[in-house]
Amino acid sequence: MEYGVAPEDDSQARKWLAKHEGGFGHFIDGAMTKPGDLFEVRDPASDTVLARVTQGTASDVDAAVSAARKAQSGWAKLSGHQRAKHLYALARHIQQHSRLLAVLETLDSGKPIRESRDIDIPLVARHFYHHAGWAEILEDELPGHTAQGVCGQIIPWNFPLLMLSWKVAPALAAGNTVVLKPAEYTSLTALAFAEIAQECGIPKGVINIVTGDGETGAAIVGHEGIDKLAFTGSTDVGRILRERTAGSGKALTLELGGKSPFVVFEDADLDAAVEGVVDAIWFNQGQVCCAGSRILVAEAVAERFETLLRARMKTLRTGDPMDKSTDIGAIVHPSQLARIRELVEKGASEGATLTQGSAPQGCFFPPTLVTDVEPASVLATEEIFGPVVTLTTFRTPSDAVALANNTRYGLAASIWSENVNLCLDIAGQVKAGIVWINSTNIFDAGAGFGGYRESGFGREGGREGMRAYLRNPAAATGKGKGTTPAELETGPADTIKGGEIDRTAKLYVGGRQARPDSGYSYQVKGGKAVVGLAGLGNRKDIRNAVEAAHKAKGWGKATGHNRAQVLYYIGENLSVRGAEFAARLESFGASRKAAEAEVETAVARCFWYAAQADKFDGAVHATKSDFVTLAMNEPIGVMGLVAPTAQPLLGAISLVLPAIAMGNRVVLVPSQTHPLAATDLYQVLDTSDVPGGVVNIVTGPRDELAKTLAAHDGVDAMWYFGNAEGCQMVEAQSAGNLKQTWVEADDARDWGARAGQGRLFLDRATQVKNIWVAYGA
Ligand code: NAI
Repeated sequence: MEYGVAPEDDSQARKWLAKHEGGFGHFIDGAMTKPGDLFEVRDPASDTVLARVTQGTASDVDAAVSAARKAQSGWAKLSGHQRAKHLYALARHIQQHSRLLAVLETLDSGKPIRESRDIDIPLVARHFYHHAGWAEILEDELPGHTAQGVCGQIIPWNFPLLMLSWKVAPALAAGNTVVLKPAEYTSLTALAFAEIAQECGIPKGVINIVTGDGETGAAIVGHEGIDKLAFTGSTDVGRILRERTAGSGKALTLELGGKSPFVVFEDADLDAAVEGVVDAIWFNQGQVCCAGSRILVAEAVAERFETLLRARMKTLRTGDPMDKSTDIGAIVHPSQLARIRELVEKGASEGATLTQGSAPQGCFFPPTLVTDVEPASVLATEEIFGPVVTLTTFRTPSDAVALANNTRYGLAASIWSENVNLCLDIAGQVKAGIVWINSTNIFDAGAGFGGYRESGFGREGGREGMRAYLRNPAAATGKGKGTTPAELETGPADTIKGGEIDRTAKLYVGGRQARPDSGYSYQVKGGKAVVGLAGLGNRKDIRNAVEAAHKAKGWGKATGHNRAQVLYYIGENLSVRGAEFAARLESFGASRKAAEAEVETAVARCFWYAAQADKFDGAVHATKSDFVTLAMNEPIGVMGLVAPTAQPLLGAISLVLPAIAMGNRVVLVPSQTHPLAATDLYQVLDTSDVPGGVVNIVTGPRDELAKTLAAHDGVDAMWYFGNAEGCQMVEAQSAGNLKQTWVEADDARDWGARAGQGRLFLDRATQVKNIWVAYGA
């Protein structure tokens, strides 16, 4: 039996569009500007012009940033309650205009009205309500945190208004003002939102919306008046943003692409899993960053699963997005359609087998199942961003994990099995920021969303999302210029003070002392005298150290308690040898008092991070009634740490301890000027049961070594405390695998004080994985 058509009424949206027939301007300083150079916005389903919007220029961006700057302090000074009332008003008015917004969204983007009406717009309202709450309780929940300032926000076209709400709501709750650019294909709901902001009386300048393409986006990215940038879109553009903002001091969060696995075990409820696939890849035409685009199914049930899936595919209706019974709407733009076609053709030419449903003529693509696909082939590796899913089989759970993680991305994963033990076991092993168990594509404002690896960094939603829009009270205490160590001298020294004993320190790699690859040492000075020699590490030594760190991955699985024991032990052994360490620090020119204080603080710091190792826990987010959402703090992996120049013992230990307390393995580049305080730690590490490879130490030219670490794809995060050029270099070099970075002038904080220790360090040493488990209800 055929379904009849059930078209949604679009008359209100058409009326609204007719009111703006002359074209849209931007929304700056509380008012719509006059239209400038206009470009067309089209309905992809009917290929008709809906409206014309302005291509934002650099001076438009400038005006918007100035308005946002002017408004920021006043907005931040409002009480949390007052800001909450504004956000609450936005939520209410969005609900009041929800039908108009849903219809506009569907006309503009091509997504089925069922989705915009039942998913996108309700989630938009939910996001503003949730963050109204955050504004209200911010001072209690995150005391001392302050707004970042002016936020530049660039969003994509797949969830136009939803992505706007993900960006605007937390920013405003935290006391920031915003300059937001919607995607060029889908600007209309952002402009309607601007009118809603006016209607609600949001103070002028707090929300600014500038339309335009990537060039307009680039003007926002490069603008000096922006304090924080938040971007959702392609990994390629995310990488450009990382490079362009390197060294600028702008805070950055990136929510990028994915190639998420959808894992079906032998004992899964196969009917439910097939419905899951529909939601995973045929939701929003597959134009979803966290789409489950790679089905991995247990060999034993693969045939049955495929049969069920093929049968279900036949029932999917692709067509008019405004029809309430349409499952798959239009692709957002002909250029995206061309991209999908090109990738699918390439896949077919590589030998993949395609099974396709039907789709009408025009900007539509049929639901497509791809089998006979090699793990390294284009369709199994590239983000297609269309209704195209691959199917591969696996034999054992460990095969499934290996296949799931066989991607440069790490956004989401979906796991299906009636055995919840197995699901949770796999959830812990997949590299993804969001894991759905027996479910998929579930979103809520109360849970963090964001990826691992090249899917970006930072979280949106939940407590972890709020933190991205706030300055931590323990952020750098001063501006600091950063230090540049003197040139290294590698020749033999005339005399070495105390030279009767060998003072040549080697490197420390994989739990062993190692000669530097260069075969050279450099002179370490205390005042004018040479007090010892340190190994001259190079890129090969860094590579060896990274490899050793990778091999020590068992450390991440050790319990917090076990890690705490090791940290206590380090503290104890350091304390036993305190006098020796203090003498070493004195030899670099520190006063006796300062040297003793540094050692004492270092010991105390061991105890503090040992205490945190089993206490810095995650959260259970209150999201949907039938889910428990576990926000787990996970180690990031292998971290490159570049220690500050002064206070060489404390500087090194202040970075190493939080990183290893959280289960990371590290490659440390200690103070170039005074590395021996760190190399003296070898024996302490050896006697404290630190497994080989957990801490690796490479001495030598700071910035050269930092560059190798920052560019290394095997390094997952980089902390650099040095000078301004180094900060710029590290952020730029990190763009390759989009590793997380923390860069600061090394003299911007007092390492001996509270600023040298705290939860900020633990936050930076972890990434949050949100695991959604069906629960109760
Ligand atoms: P895109 O990354 O180019 O566009 C996203 C946003 O960035 C838009 O607002 C765009 O105007 C802006 N932009 C583009 N270049 C910029 C630049 N140099 N500086 C600042 N802003 C810039 O995504 P596009 O080209 O629309 O889609 C291409 C592919 O990207 C898709 O096929 C898909 O694979 C992926 N994508 C991923 C998304 C996600 O949610 N992860 C969303 C959209 C696209």
